[in-house]
Amino acid sequence: MPVITNIYDLKRLHKRRTPKMFYDYCESGSWTEQTFRENVTDFDKIRLRQRIAVNMEGRSTATQMIGQDVAMPVALAPVGLTGMQRADGEIKAARAAEKFGVPFTLSTMSICSIEDVAENTEKPFWFQVYTLKDDDFMRRLLDRAKDANCSAIVITVDLQIMGQRHKDLKNGLSAPPKLTPKSIADMVTKVAWGLEMLGTKRRFFGNIVGHAKGVTDPSSLSSWTAEAFDPALDWDRIATLRRMWDGKVILKGILDVEDAKRAAEIGADAIVVSNHGGRQLDGALSSIRMLEQIVEAVGDKVEVHLDSGIRSGQDVLKAVAMGAKGTYIGRAFVHGLGAMGEAGVTKALEVIHKELDVSMALCGRRDIKEVDRDILLVPEDFAGRWA
Ligand code: GLV
Repeated sequence: MPVITNIYDLKRLHKRRTPKMFYDYCESGSWTEQTFRENVTDFDKIRLRQRIAVNMEGRSTATQMIGQDVAMPVALAPVGLTGMQRADGEIKAARAAEKFGVPFTLSTMSICSIEDVAENTEKPFWFQVYTLKDDDFMRRLLDRAKDANCSAIVITVDLQIMGQRHKDLKNGLSAPPKLTPKSIADMVTKVAWGLEMLGTKRRFFGNIVGHAKGVTDPSSLSSWTAEAFDPALDWDRIATLRRMWDGKVILKGILDVEDAKRAAEIGADAIVVSNHGGRQLDGALSSIRMLEQIVEAVGDKVEVHLDSGIRSGQDVLKAVAMGAKGTYIGRAFVHGLGAMGEAGVTKALEVIHKELDVSMALCGRRDIKEVDRDILLVPEDFAGRWA
């Protein structure tokens, strides 16, 4: 087993072991990828304050997200096509998450279905839904999530239409992959991936195929998005969707103070400050830059979480110190999955946990619940004066 010391080690293996169209799907942002890049580089601008002579014994990273105990304030984000990065990928990631004690969020655009994941795990997971036009399908999805004992739904509110990711068009992204000379030439170099894929029946969008009506090309993420997603989404509709689930609701994709206030008003249990990993509006500010002002505006009314840009435990620590009660990793766990399956997701979680724990200690804190803004050194113009 190669020595893995950080998420970028897993990323290198992921690239080597997974067909290009799926690696690229994970590792891309929309258009120029400016926001995708800045999500990461903006974390680097924040520094940590080194403190000494503080007893570091008995440390804890355990806390709660939406009232649920978590081993650290990190959940697995919903990522479409996870089961194409590795056969049965969603089941593998969900198992790693439950053993580690962090929430797993299943995407609507997963390969393994809600039922597949429920049958192969023991603890409740979270389910992500898009804002779809078809109320019937939406209701059935939520009923299926309820039957599968999902403990929260995460409504994605920043993807009624899809930001263009150039690589997906160039690669002809689909699930399962269409057989072209180019895709075959690539896949024959990914032997272990291919053998595992041949050994599973889960190669289609498991929540969609056989459940949604009138989808012209059920293997294409972009055509299903264009046909099924509700471009007319407004706050009334979001409030209706919120009422369709009588349990915890997380709204994912808030990047503006005014939107955060509306989300708090409609009774979301948590919001995720997110620009969809830089995959939607290219040119938007990074999530970490927007976090503090959103926490100031609504942090006493709704739990504020953050995704987009987290690649290390130091990033988690910075987000928590700025007021996030939880964070999500997407690419970081997918790199682990693509590299080494379930063991790789566990490794990604271990890496992040260790970085978080040691960095917290070196900042002079022993309990994640005591971490506050005082441990950070943030440049004066970090949030910026954008008018
Ligand atoms: C789906 O949510 C995507 O970003 O591809």
